[in-house]
Amino acid sequence: MEILDAINLRHSTRDYLTDAPSKATIEGLLSAATRAPCAFNRQAWRFTVILNRNLLDEISAGAKSYMTRTRPLELPETLYQKLADPDFHVFYRAPALIVISAAAQGPWIEADGALAAENLMLAAQAQGLGSCWIGLSQPFLATPEGRALAQLPKDENPVAPIAIGRPAQAVAPTPRQPVVARWIA
Ligand SMILES: Cc1cc2nc3c(=O)[nH]c(=O)nc-3n(C[C@H](O)[C@H](O)[C@H](O)COP(=O)(O)O)c2cc1C
Repeated sequence: MEILDAINLRHSTRDYLTDAPSKATIEGLLSAATRAPCAFNRQAWRFTVILNRNLLDEISAGAKSYMTRTRPLELPETLYQKLADPDFHVFYRAPALIVISAAAQGPWIEADGALAAENLMLAAQAQGLGSCWIGLSQPFLATPEGRALAQLPKDENPVAPIAIGRPAQAVAPTPRQPVVARWIA
């Protein structure tokens, strides 16, 4: 797939088939992620690939409980209602979660992780896979309980949890507003 097609067709997938991508496919996505630019070329991104169905369910439940109990982010009330819905799964029951974490601190460290995440999501799109950044799981993943479940080392901070899998249905890309740009000639 051409890069511009991948960019234009990518959208957040919220309905997945149950089979997980192969190890080789996921390794290809991780390799694409590390081709992203990063400040000072520090390459401090680390990846945790979670394929265990029960563990994904456990992290989803933990994230929902933590979010509704502590309300750590200013979110629309409708999102907190969704998080309280017993049927809602924060990862949309995706068969794989890739948590991109930062093994360093310093300027632009979160930007590094976000760039790696976009590379990963575009590489997924190019291979017919769907993806979705699951920000709703981030606050929980940063807690001692979330870290323990995701086996995140103490010196790593979760930056981008990305659900990955085969889309259950074809979905049109999410529309965009017209470009707002100021041109200075
Ligand atoms: C930092 C960040 C956090 C996000 N968190 C969530 C999330 O928790 N759940 C979700 O369904 N989508 C999440 N998204 C996906 C956005 O809702 C989505 O990218 C946006 O609506 C644009 O749609 P598109 O990705 O289909 O183009 C997140 C995206 C970003 C960049």
